[in-house]
Amino acid sequence: MTDGRISTARLGTDGPEVGVQGLGCMGMSFAYGPVDTDASRATLERALELGVTLYDTADMYGAGENERFLSPFFKAHRDELLIATKFALSLDPDNPTRRVIRNDEPYIRQAVEASLKRLDVDVIDLYYMHRRDVNVPIEETVGVMADLIREGKVKQLGLSEVTADELRAAHAVHPIAAVQSEWSLFSRDIEAKVVPAARDLGVTLVPYSPLGRGFLTGSFTNAEQDLTPDDFRRQQPRYTGENATTNAALLAPLREIAASHGATLGQIALAWVHHQSQLHNLPVIPIPGTRKPQRVEENTAATHIKLTQEELALLDPLATKVAGNRYADMRFTSAGRE
Ligand SMILES: NC(=O)c1ccc[n+]([C@@H]2O[C@H](COP(=O)([O-])OP(=O)(O)OC[C@H]3O[C@@H](n4cnc5c(N)ncnc54)[C@H](OP(=O)(O)O)[C@@H]3O)[C@@H](O)[C@H]2O)c1
Repeated sequence: MTDGRISTARLGTDGPEVGVQGLGCMGMSFAYGPVDTDASRATLERALELGVTLYDTADMYGAGENERFLSPFFKAHRDELLIATKFALSLDPDNPTRRVIRNDEPYIRQAVEASLKRLDVDVIDLYYMHRRDVNVPIEETVGVMADLIREGKVKQLGLSEVTADELRAAHAVHPIAAVQSEWSLFSRDIEAKVVPAARDLGVTLVPYSPLGRGFLTGSFTNAEQDLTPDDFRRQQPRYTGENATTNAALLAPLREIAASHGATLGQIALAWVHHQSQLHNLPVIPIPGTRKPQRVEENTAATHIKLTQEELALLDPLATKVAGNRYADMRFTSAGRE
């Protein structure tokens, strides 16, 4: 580190260097309880000062509200940062617990125009397919995404929650810069196939929910008891009921290691994710989400923590002991299709 800023990593084989930690912006408008726009704006500015240059949103976060909220910040700093957004996923207006997934050309074309309009920018730096619609061949979807690059609407392509085979098929149509999938001490299913495929193809890994949606920081131990009624984490099996009790007990080694580093639990959880880059020999750019400036300071500082082999060995078995899936319906994940 120089001048207090985080180091950088490459986004795709020939892509730009970006801060080695990005910022997840979803919670600023969606899914995680009450929003605080003033604190969120301060968080965005502080992140940029610290060298965070990859900002993650999606059209479905608050049905467009998150993109609209981020737009003034993005426009004020257009040359200093990269905007990553996503298409494919929406909530059924008649039944908001039902997710709709679409990867067909008419849908993609209207989605990209809507995102560009809400963001009020000319081009999206990194455009992800948020979820796979198995009714549409992935080659067809990526073909349309590649057309968006030729048309100047998008600069680089990403895929979220794809299998290794889907990634290979997509990459044969057009280079994929990044795969965004859940990866944390509690969620390691992508290590078996997706991570090796990404390494072979020169694709950067962008782990989402690297703090286990906040659970790994110890800030809540049971979603039903600790979080507001509208919080999405109440729908996730591992954060409720007996599973939550079992999983909270798994944090003991994390506490021990955090104490010995004079660090927080969240910092150790993030240091573990950053270590995966060296271990698997590919660029890894996690995007922890926060709405609080002091937490972005804490999270970026975790990029400087080095875990010992003994500490890594203590943390290694945690994922196999986690009770409950990461989504109620695992078809929503790449692991559900591997
Ligand atoms: N591709 C996908 O399908 C997908 C799915 C989920 C998320 N994402 C993206 O990934 C980003 C990150 O994932 P995520 O937000 O789900 O989970 P996460 O980064 O694992 O955790 C976020 C939660 O942790 C809390 N937190 C953050 N830093 C903290 C700290 N230092 N101490 C204590 N608590 C802390 C946040 O609360 P505060 O905000 O109150 O600080 C928030 O509740 C999202 O913002 C989104 O952009 C993508």
